Amino acid sequence: MSVKIFSGSASKKLAKNVVKKYSDNKILNNISIKKFSDGEIKVHFGETVREKKIFIIQSTHPSSDNLIELFLMLDAAKRASARKICAVIPYFGYARQDRKDEPRVPISAKLMANLITASGADRVITIDLHVDQIQGFFDIPVDHLSSSYIFIPYLKNRFKTDDMIFASPDVGGSKRAIRYSNAFDTDLVLVHKERGKNGDIFKMKLIGDVEDKDVFFIDDIIDSAGTICKAANLVMDNGAKSVRALITHPILSGSAYDKINKSKLDELIVTDTIPIQHELSDKITILSTDELLAQAIKRIASGQSISRTIFGSM
Ligand code: R5P
Repeated sequence: MSVKIFSGSASKKLAKNVVKKYSDNKILNNISIKKFSDGEIKVHFGETVREKKIFIIQSTHPSSDNLIELFLMLDAAKRASARKICAVIPYFGYARQDRKDEPRVPISAKLMANLITASGADRVITIDLHVDQIQGFFDIPVDHLSSSYIFIPYLKNRFKTDDMIFASPDVGGSKRAIRYSNAFDTDLVLVHKERGKNGDIFKMKLIGDVEDKDVFFIDDIIDSAGTICKAANLVMDNGAKSVRALITHPILSGSAYDKINKSKLDELIVTDTIPIQHELSDKITILSTDELLAQAIKRIASGQSISRTIFGSM
C-alpha cells in the first residue's frame, strides 16, 4: 500500500523537508486549499487517496483556520476512502487548557482531540505535547515524539563545558529538564513561577545554585517570551556565566522578539514545528524536526516500532 504525504498551510516548508528526508525521489502530494470570499476554507485532494496510507502534516498554529483546515483535510480523506489516515501535528495547539482547574472553563485539549478523531484521523504523530497525559485524550494511537532526540545530540556536539547545568522555568516542567540533566550527568535547578489572574508573572524564585554555571533552560512552549526572559534574567542576576534556552515550539506572539533581544538570554534554540520570523532576532537558532518526523512516518507506514532506540543514542 503506497504512502502519500500532504501538507496543510501551516506546515508547508517543514512538510517539504520531511518528504526530502523520507526519500530522495519522494515529493509532497497534491492538495489544494482555497478560501471562499467570506473566508470559509475549501480543500480538495488533487489525486486519489483510495486505499492509501496518508499522512497529513499540519501544526495547529495560528490556531483557528489551521485547525479547521486539518478537520476538513481529514474528512476529505475519510470520504475519499483512504485506508489509513494519520494526522501529523508537529505543534498541537489548544493544549494549555488540559483540565478543569476553575469553574466554567472548557477542557480545550480534550475537545480538539475529539474533533480530530471525529474528522477521520485514525492515528496522530505529534511532538512535545504540553503535558504527556493529552495522549490519553485520544482513543486512537498517538506517537508522542520528543525534541530531546534533536536537542541532546546537538548540545553534545556543540558544548563541551564542565559548568553545564539544566533548568526548568517552572516546577511543572521539571520532568523535561531531568531528562537532560540525566543525559549529561549534571545538576538541575528549578524556577518557581506564579502567575496573576490576567496571566502576568508576578513572582519567580530560583531553587538551586547557578553561580559560575552555563545554564540551559528546557521548555515546550515560548509564547509571549515572558517566562523565559524573566527566568534568564533571574539566573544571570544570581551569578550564572551564560544562559540559553531550548524550547520546542516557538509561538513567539506579541512583543516576544523584542523581549528576547532585550533580555539577558544569550541564545534561544527552537525547532521548526512553527515557522518563525527568524530575521527579527539574531539570538535564535532553529533546528529541524524533519528527520525525526520522516523516520516516524516511515516506521509507521511499514509497521515498525517507534522506540527511543531508532533515533540514535543521546
Ligand atoms: C508553561 O507551562 C509553559 O511550559 C511555558 O513556560 C509558557 O507557556 C510560556 O509562556 P510565555 O512565553 O507566554 O511566558
